[in-house]
Amino acid sequence: MAFGADYNPDQWPREVWDSDVAAMREAGVNIVSLAIFSWARIQPNAETFDWAWLDDAMDLLHANGIAVDLATATASPPPWLTTSHPEVLPVDSTGATLWPGARQHWRPTSPVFRSYALTLVRELAKRYANHPALTAWHISNELGCHNVYDYSDDAAHAFRDWLKARYRTIDGLNEAWGTAFWSQRYSAWGQILPPRQAASYPNPTQQLDFKRFSSDALKDYLVAEREILRAITPDVPITTNFMVMGETKGMNYADWASEVDFVSNDHYYTPGPQGLDELSFSANLTGHIASGRPWFLMEHSTSAVNWQPINLAKRPGELGRDSLVHVAHGADAVCFFQWRQSKAGAEKYHSAMLPHAGTDSAVFRAVAQLGQDLKTIQPIAGTDQARSRAAILFDWDSWWASELDSHPTDRLRYRQEALDWYTAFLANGVPADVVPVSASLDGYDLVVAPILHLVPSSLATRLSEYVAGGGHLVTTYFSGIVNEDDHIWLGGYPGALRDLLGIRIEEFGPLLEGDSVTLDNGADGTLWTDRIDVTGADVDVLAWYKTGEHAGRAAITRRTVAAVGSGSDDGAPGGGAEGSATYVSTRLGPDGLTPLLADLLRAAGIASPLPEEARGQVELAIRTGDDREFWFLINRTDVPVELPGVTGEPLLGSITPLPPRAVAVLRTR
Ligand code: GAL
Repeated sequence: MAFGADYNPDQWPREVWDSDVAAMREAGVNIVSLAIFSWARIQPNAETFDWAWLDDAMDLLHANGIAVDLATATASPPPWLTTSHPEVLPVDSTGATLWPGARQHWRPTSPVFRSYALTLVRELAKRYANHPALTAWHISNELGCHNVYDYSDDAAHAFRDWLKARYRTIDGLNEAWGTAFWSQRYSAWGQILPPRQAASYPNPTQQLDFKRFSSDALKDYLVAEREILRAITPDVPITTNFMVMGETKGMNYADWASEVDFVSNDHYYTPGPQGLDELSFSANLTGHIASGRPWFLMEHSTSAVNWQPINLAKRPGELGRDSLVHVAHGADAVCFFQWRQSKAGAEKYHSAMLPHAGTDSAVFRAVAQLGQDLKTIQPIAGTDQARSRAAILFDWDSWWASELDSHPTDRLRYRQEALDWYTAFLANGVPADVVPVSASLDGYDLVVAPILHLVPSSLATRLSEYVAGGGHLVTTYFSGIVNEDDHIWLGGYPGALRDLLGIRIEEFGPLLEGDSVTLDNGADGTLWTDRIDVTGADVDVLAWYKTGEHAGRAAITRRTVAAVGSGSDDGAPGGGAEGSATYVSTRLGPDGLTPLLADLLRAAGIASPLPEEARGQVELAIRTGDDREFWFLINRTDVPVELPGVTGEPLLGSITPLPPRAVAVLRTR
């Protein structure tokens, strides 16, 4: 188990470094990410490299048994570069330049930036290729954190190349973008621009393609750095820190994961009623993006951050618990931003492993305790997240497309709906995998696809086959509406899934802010309603609208589908008896989804492994290896929780009872 932080010795005088490594050893730190924002220090001008301080830091860390995940230091270009080449600076959709003074002020598609950055990468790789501390490469930092959408002329050129590769001909692009609308027809590639601020809504397919392109442009940059590192140090694994968290949606990480040797993620906790659920959701998704392989928690915080509107300190127990939730979902490393809390700069109020108060502090003691706990649970290292019987599908295309402008409502939030379902799984005490839409559905008895808005015909076929194979599919409002070009599937909604669901919708019924409808099962719906006609023969109405425009009509439907090859031993989920396709037409939120999901789980034959009184209070996450299985039991509450009937060989902590905000690990096989 790796344990450590970003380490920025260049912020401190040399004499501080010795106390740093002494305290790192005390805390059990065994890895640091070094030189992430050190470009200006390493290369004071275009011609000069200053390695002495970095040699010294590498040697010191190595002498103290601390491995180095060495950054390529390209995240924040130095002032000499942006002064001599202002054309590397990103441009926003209004044409305004994003000036230097903060960080990450570079265009992902700038050839000039790339040439300088790759020179640095090459020199750094040559310098440290044989250094014994070098354990991994850390490409840039959070690619796209501040510069994912660049509307510059460089971006325009690269966007055109990307579009040529996608559509081949200008006619193909005109067709895909629906440019017959509003006189947008292009007659030459050179006329095409990024969706810069326009008089009204830019073309929606142009917007969607620009999102795809922007993710690809950063991925392409990642690959460019990686290729240099691979050529010089073929045996050193390469990573970059993803940001699977909250509303960070610009980078399609499911598509990036195969480009790195191991997946790393940064996650920052957002306080609130679903804060811990969101943490678990993000960790779960990261593990599945990593295809189940162990992954690296590259950054999170020991306590407060500095960038939320109000930055809360973590309460006792939360530092350890929050870290171990990531481990429960497959992380084999727990690292923080950053080692020593800065005394100057924009992040001086951001917590660290070693706070302003020094080692005599509650934070440092909790850090050292976590270091101990990670040693204790070492036997879990290398195991994967166990496959659950239920899954939530997560899809960047649907996220991007469903939240475009000029839609029935601008209040829809794709990730929030997915998170609400995850909260409902937690409340029912049933583990669910959060998987990219491309994942195999084999073996899942229940699959929830919230707001699966963009459905190419191949995906519709896959989902139909899943249901025909005995799987239970659940989807929601605004699903199955458009194809990969953001064109409507005609004939009534939800076009691509209409036959599978056995329903037809002629018009959407979005709700005004503050309005709600009541269903006959007692749940309240907000945001959205649909005027549903039931068209399929085998469709049951699970709940009806009691109030609102659609009172007396179906709100939640479920079509039963006889399984193909029913009764055969062909590995079909759900015992091979019959599959189903359920549609939920309004936003129920966690309170409404929890009882509904309980019914759907029962119908799919899935029971909670947890005692009833602990469900919702305790999260269960399971890791397995060849001959090993471990249960992580995470107390999500501020009170002790009993877990009658849960057994296993204790590896960490105790479950009699499970103390408030604590995590216990049992070896169950
Ligand atoms: C991350 C970033 C770190 C630090 C941290 C603060 O986005 O990679 O450098 O800024 O946030 O929470």
